[in-house]
Amino acid sequence: MNQPTDEHLEELLAFAKDVARGAGRLALDHLEGGAAIEFKGPRELVTPVDRACEEYVVERIRQAYPDHGYFAEEGHQADGAWRWIVDPIDGTTNFSQRLPLFSVSLGLEFEGELLLGVVSAPYLDELFWARRGGGAWLAWRGAPPRRCRVSQTSELKDAVLATGFAYVRNETKNDNLENWRRLCLASRGVRRGGSAAIDLAYVADGRFDAFWEMHLKPYDVAAGVVLIREAGGKVSDFFGGEDWLEGQSIVVSNGAVHERVRESLDPVHEDPWVRRPD
Ligand code: IPD
Ligand code: CA
Ligand code: CA
Repeated sequence: MNQPTDEHLEELLAFAKDVARGAGRLALDHLEGGAAIEFKGPRELVTPVDRACEEYVVERIRQAYPDHGYFAEEGHQADGAWRWIVDPIDGTTNFSQRLPLFSVSLGLEFEGELLLGVVSAPYLDELFWARRGGGAWLAWRGAPPRRCRVSQTSELKDAVLATGFAYVRNETKNDNLENWRRLCLASRGVRRGGSAAIDLAYVADGRFDAFWEMHLKPYDVAAGVVLIREAGGKVSDFFGGEDWLEGQSIVVSNGAVHERVRESLDPVHEDPWVRRPD
C-alpha cells in the first residue's frame, strides 16, 4: 500500500483528537459516580468506565474507518494495515481515587509504523497530539494550540524525572525501587504520576527531562512516543535498542540526559519473571 499523505494524516489526526476528547468527557462525567472496581490482578483495576470509554472509541473507529484494525486494553482487537492502539483510561488507579492524572491514549500505526498519537487528560483539560512530520502540539483550556518541545536540561543533577511501578512489581526481581533510589539521589527529583501516557506527553512538553518504566504495554506508550519524537526527544529500551513497544522496558528523554538515565537503570533482563517473546 502507498504511504499515507500528510493530508490524510491530518484528517486522521482531527478524527483522533475528536474521539480522545469524547472519551475523556465520558470518563470525566463518571468521575464522581464512584465507579465500581474490579480486579484484573492483585492491584490492577478496571472499572465499567474503562470499558465504556473503550466501547466509545472502538465504535467511533468502526463507523468512520470500517477497514481499520485496533488493539485496545480491555479486549477489543481487529487486524488491519491501519491499527489503532487504544488505552481507554490510562491511570485507572488515579481515576478510581478521583485523582486528576488520567488520560485517554490513542496511537495509530500504518503497516507497523507509528504515525500519529493523541493523549487527552480531561481533568486537566490538556490535549496533546502529534503526527509524523507535523510536530507535537498542546491545547490547554481555551488557549490557542502551541508547539511542544523537549527540555534542554543537559546535567542529570538538574533533571526532573518520572517513572512508574508495574502492577507485577511483587513478582519481579527488578521492582524499580533501586532505580528510583539511585536516580532520586542523582537528579533534582523523581515523580510518580500514575499515567504513563501523561508522563510521556510531559517529557515531550519539556516538563520532565526523562521517564522510564518496565513492563508497560503498547497502549501505554504508543501515542506518547509519537509526541516525544515530534518534540525532538529520544526513545529507547533499557539496552539502548528499539524494543520498547512490545518489549519490557522504555526510556524516553530530551536526548541530552538519555544515556545518563539509561546507564543508571538495572537491566530488566536480569529479571527471571520476564518471558520475552520467541
Ligand atoms: C498504568 C499507568 C501507570 C503505570 C502502569 C500502567 P493503566 O496503566 O500507565 O502510570 O505505572 O504500569 O499499567 O492500568 O492505568 O491503564
Ligand atoms: Ca495504561
Ligand atoms: Ca488502561
